[in-house]
Amino acid sequence: MEIRFEPTKTPKAKPQDETKLGFGHIFTDHMFAMNYDAGQGWHDARIVPYGEISLSPAAMCLHYGQEIFEGLKAYRTADGTVQLFRPDENYKRMNNSAERMVIPKIDEKFMVEATKKLVEIEKDWVPHTDGASLYIRPFIFATDPYVGVKPADHYLFLIILSPSGPYYSTGLDPVKIYVEQKYVRAVRGGTGFAKTAANYAISLKGQDEAHEQDYEQVLWLDGVEQKYIEEVGSMNIFFVIDGEVITPELTGSVLPGITRKSALEVCKAKGIKATERRITIQEVADAYDAGKLDEVFGTGTAAVISPVGHLKWGDKVMTINDNKIGKISQMLYDTMTGIQWGKIEDKFGWTVKIG
Ligand code: COI
Repeated sequence: MEIRFEPTKTPKAKPQDETKLGFGHIFTDHMFAMNYDAGQGWHDARIVPYGEISLSPAAMCLHYGQEIFEGLKAYRTADGTVQLFRPDENYKRMNNSAERMVIPKIDEKFMVEATKKLVEIEKDWVPHTDGASLYIRPFIFATDPYVGVKPADHYLFLIILSPSGPYYSTGLDPVKIYVEQKYVRAVRGGTGFAKTAANYAISLKGQDEAHEQDYEQVLWLDGVEQKYIEEVGSMNIFFVIDGEVITPELTGSVLPGITRKSALEVCKAKGIKATERRITIQEVADAYDAGKLDEVFGTGTAAVISPVGHLKWGDKVMTINDNKIGKISQMLYDTMTGIQWGKIEDKFGWTVKIG
């Protein structure tokens, strides 16, 4: 499919101080857009000036949340080239989310091409500063003006771009996580594995209560027994117990993170034992009491590798690795960011060059 390009007549000034970008506040000059209409399929692919969209107040996405999204990044390497990290994985996951949310799929290769074309046009917006990148947010939502509950007949697919710094204001300093015991994020047969707005909306109440106790994020337990560890919501979670790297297996209620998958592959390539299995919060607490909980860290596109310094479960507060980044977390951070920013050789073939 052809992608039409309509350049902006009013380009914006780029951020002057890239150390103060924050995350997800600033948007570039252009966005990708494409419509779906039943009977016609996906059509009218275009790159147009970034701007407000008009939507009926009755648009179905606003009432019943039929929406999916993705998150990936473009990185500027030392020699000035711009590259993406495993974009094919993002669009494979987007189609899995689409299937669950009854949204029409889009050809994955086409979505990668559209992303490359948009980033190429906006390549001057890719930050030059260490640790900063261009966050890419593709998303699809239902636009039919109808307040009945059914899968929509009309959708809009947009890709917007945001030059961003670290997701957590703490950067690579360890985050404080609170184990959620009241609310749940996902249940068996639900939408936990899909990247859909509802999974994030449902997490806000727990996050709010965690903030009141000075904790940054919530660690979700399974929705049935509230015993097994699932994920943080903004990232997947890993434990290093007695030298073994453990992350909850993908049971359907955990997001299949691309950084999660890559971290497991890096561990395996380095000969570190890395296991995907069910793990209870009790097992983590027992390992802590036995002095065997070496490290805890989260993985995510936005979060990269985020060490966890404090884990609070009820009245128990576990201080992990003296509230410092651990050896395996640091190795994974260096390897992942090294590949992403082109500082080390990409032996896995994960990066995709723009232009
Ligand atoms: C990402 O890591 O890209 C996400 O979509 C998570 C979101 C909380 C920023």
